[in-house]
Amino acid sequence: MTEPGSRTAIVSGAARGIGRAIALALAEKGLAVALVDLREQELAATAAAVRAHGVPALTIAADIADYQAARDHVAAILGAWGRIDVLVNNAAMLQPQRVLEITEAEWDRGMAVNLKGYFNWSQAVAPAMLAQGEGRIINMGSVSAHTGPSPHAASRFAYSATKAGVLGLTRGLARELAPQVCVNAICPGAILTERTAESFAPHLERLRQSTPLGRVGTPEDIAVVAAFLATATPMFMTGEVIDVDGGANIN
Ligand SMILES: NC(=O)c1ccc[n+]([C@@H]2O[C@H](COP(=O)([O-])OP(=O)(O)OC[C@H]3O[C@@H](n4cnc5c(N)ncnc54)[C@H](O)[C@@H]3O)[C@@H](O)[C@H]2O)c1
Repeated sequence: MTEPGSRTAIVSGAARGIGRAIALALAEKGLAVALVDLREQELAATAAAVRAHGVPALTIAADIADYQAARDHVAAILGAWGRIDVLVNNAAMLQPQRVLEITEAEWDRGMAVNLKGYFNWSQAVAPAMLAQGEGRIINMGSVSAHTGPSPHAASRFAYSATKAGVLGLTRGLARELAPQVCVNAICPGAILTERTAESFAPHLERLRQSTPLGRVGTPEDIAVVAAFLATATPMFMTGEVIDVDGGANIN
């Protein structure tokens, strides 16, 4: 168990990039964080950085596409910590294939990770959050859910389709899990991470110029919004989709 009254969170894709920054932002707010990812070594480094904030961390090497694994890991977290206040569904995979070249297996795997993975973990935590009478689920979308993939992005149409699905999942769960659980989504624009550094490199100047706030985003730009959605009280937002893109897609 964590200290009585301590809040806890699960963050997927926490080994690096945006997920890591979110885990650290939640740790800074005093939440114990369970870190889920396929990359075990980097997970251990995130866990050490979380613990440096004086809060507990658990590392969970798991594929979010695995339905039963999500249920088993959530049961283990509840066994260890007693409650789950926040779930951040953030892990996702690239889908660089174009429509004429993608295979059925590639399409299915993208859906299994980027969309079903978020369902798997949301369904697994929901009973505990409903029983607690409160909880927050934050899903990572993408502005490409609204716009389709931009030319500098490494992913193409199939990724945009999964992210559009994430927004529908968010709105549907927000209705089903109300009033106890608030479910919101964040749509990052261009955010410089380990994953995007290479594909963005030739476009950095153009990205800056086409962004009203004059720079490319950082993982911390997303983490600050995730921490708000995870911890702000009172909370009268649910089913919302927040674009965090420096104004690049104002319409
Ligand atoms: N970086 C951007 O510009 C950008 C823009 C829009 C949306 N996003 C979204 O933000 C989130 C984080 O992106 P990022 O740039 O930090 O990516 P990233 O690749 O750096 O991090 C994603 C993490 O998820 C993990 N992961 C992938 N598949 C997994 C699986 N099946 N099970 C468990 N873990 C898995 C990876 O190992 C990785 O550590 C993703 O949902 C992404 O789609 C990012």
